[in-house]
Amino acid sequence: MAKILIIDDDVASCRTLQLHFRATHEVEIAHDAAAGMSAAESFGPNLIILDIRMPGRSGLEALPDFKTHFGQTPVIIITAFDDMDSTITAMQRGADDYITKPIDISEMDQAVERAINRRQSDVAGLQLVLEHQTSHRGYTMIGNSRPMKEVFKTIGLIARKPVTVHISGASGTGKELVARNLHRAGPTPDGPFVAINCAALVETLLESDMFGHEKGAFTGAISSQPGKFALAQDGTIFLDEVGELSPNIQAKLLRVLQEKEYLPVGGKESRQTNARIISACNANLKQLVADNRFREDLFYRLQVVNIPVPALKDRLEDLPSLISYLLGRINREFHKSVATISAEVMEAFYAYTWPGNVRELENLLMKAVAMCPGDTVTLDLLPPQLHKQVSSLAPVTDARLSLQDVERAHVLRVLQHTGWHRGCACEILGTSRPRLRRLINQYNLQEPGAASASEPEDP
Ligand SMILES: Nc1ncnc2c1ncn2[C@@H]1O[C@H](COP(=O)(O)OP(=O)(O)OP(=O)(O)O)[C@@H](O)[C@H]1O
Ligand SMILES: [Mg+2]
Repeated sequence: MAKILIIDDDVASCRTLQLHFRATHEVEIAHDAAAGMSAAESFGPNLIILDIRMPGRSGLEALPDFKTHFGQTPVIIITAFDDMDSTITAMQRGADDYITKPIDISEMDQAVERAINRRQSDVAGLQLVLEHQTSHRGYTMIGNSRPMKEVFKTIGLIARKPVTVHISGASGTGKELVARNLHRAGPTPDGPFVAINCAALVETLLESDMFGHEKGAFTGAISSQPGKFALAQDGTIFLDEVGELSPNIQAKLLRVLQEKEYLPVGGKESRQTNARIISACNANLKQLVADNRFREDLFYRLQVVNIPVPALKDRLEDLPSLISYLLGRINREFHKSVATISAEVMEAFYAYTWPGNVRELENLLMKAVAMCPGDTVTLDLLPPQLHKQVSSLAPVTDARLSLQDVERAHVLRVLQHTGWHRGCACEILGTSRPRLRRLINQYNLQEPGAASASEPEDP
C-alpha cells in the first residue's frame, strides 16, 4: 500500500481518483500547489499526482519545488491541456509521467504502478533539470495522441543525456522534426544542428562531406576542407537515412561512436568530435543487419535509445489539430484564408491510410489551398485516391427509422470508418470516451475480430 497525494483544483476529478485508489492505497487530496506542499510535508507521500492548470501556482511552476523537497517521490503530471512543449518541460523538470484529461483510469493505473516500481528500483534514474524552455518557433510538433505523447515524453527524458538516439518511422512521419526537437531540448540548443542525408551523395563525396578532406586527397581537392563533423562542433549531427551508408563509412562512423574521433579523407591525424549523434531511417535497420547490409555493432551503438515515430494512420485523432496547424502555416505562406474543411473531406481523411504520413497531408493541403477559390477545402480539390473514401458513405434516407436506429447505425458507421479507433470516433461524434463506451455496450456493437466481451466502463 503506497501513499498517494493528489493535487488538483478540480474537486470532482480528485474525488474520482480518490475513490478509485482508496481500495489499494492511502490517498490524500489538495486543491492548489501551496496546500499540496504542506500536505506533502505532513503526509509523506510515495507518489504525487499533480495537475498543471490550477489557480495560483501552476503544477508546472510548482514541480521543481516538489522535486527539490521530495526528490525521491515520483510525480505524475495530469492536465486537460496538452502540447509538446508542456510535456517536454514537465519531463525535464523531473516528472515521471504525463497523463491527459479526461483521465483514462487504466492508463492512470499503469502510470502509478510504473512510477512506484521504478522509484524502488532506480532512485537515481531521473535527473531534474530546472531550466526554462526556450521557445523556438518553426519546429512545432503537433500531437495529442497517446503514441505521440510517448514520443514527447522520451524526448523530454533523454534530451539532456549523452546517449545516441535512433529515430525510426515511415517516410513523412516527422523523424527530422523529432531530431530537431531533441537538439533544441538538449544541452546545446544554440549550437549547430547539422543534417547529413546519407542517401543523397555518392560514397566518396559523402565521406569527405562528413569528415572533410586534406589538400590533394583526391583530384580536385585543391585545398583542405572541414567536414560536417567539424562544423557541428559540440552540437548535433543528424544522420538521415543512415541505413544507406556504405561499409567503409559504417566503419568510420563506428570509430566516431567508440573513440569520438575520425580521420579526414587523405589525412594522417585524427580529429576529435564532441557532436551528439542522432540517426534516422525509414527502413527497418534490424532487417538490414539480418541481411548483412548494416553492421550489427554499429546498430547497437546507434540505437542506445530508439524513438519510434508512429504512422499517421495509427493516430488519426491527431488529424484535426494537424490540419489546423498546417492550414495556418500554408495560409500565411500563400496569403490565403482557407479556414474550413468540408465534412465530406474530413470523412475521407479519417478513412484514408496516409502512406506518405504527415508530409502527404501537408502536400495535399498545400495543393488544395492553392487551388481553393473560397474559404473551404472541398472534396473536388483532393486527389482521386481520397474520393474513393467517401463514396460508400450514404446518408440516412429512410424516414421510418427511430432516433435510436439512426444513432446506432451512425455510431457503428463511424467506428467502422475509423477502424474502431475510439479516439477518432469520439472526435467525429463529439462525445467523450466513457459515453462512446456506453453507446457501444448499449447497442451491443462488436468490433470484428475482437473478443466478445463488453466495453469496460469507467468507474
Ligand atoms: N507532428 C507533426 N506536427 C507538425 N508537422 C509535422 C509533424 N510531423 C511531420 N510534420 C511535417 O511533415 C513534414 C515531414 O516531416 P519530416 O521531414 O520530419 O519527416 P521524416 O520522417 O523525416 O520524413 P522522411 O522519412 O521522408 O525523411 C515536414 O514538413 C514536417 O514539418
Ligand atoms: Mg526526413
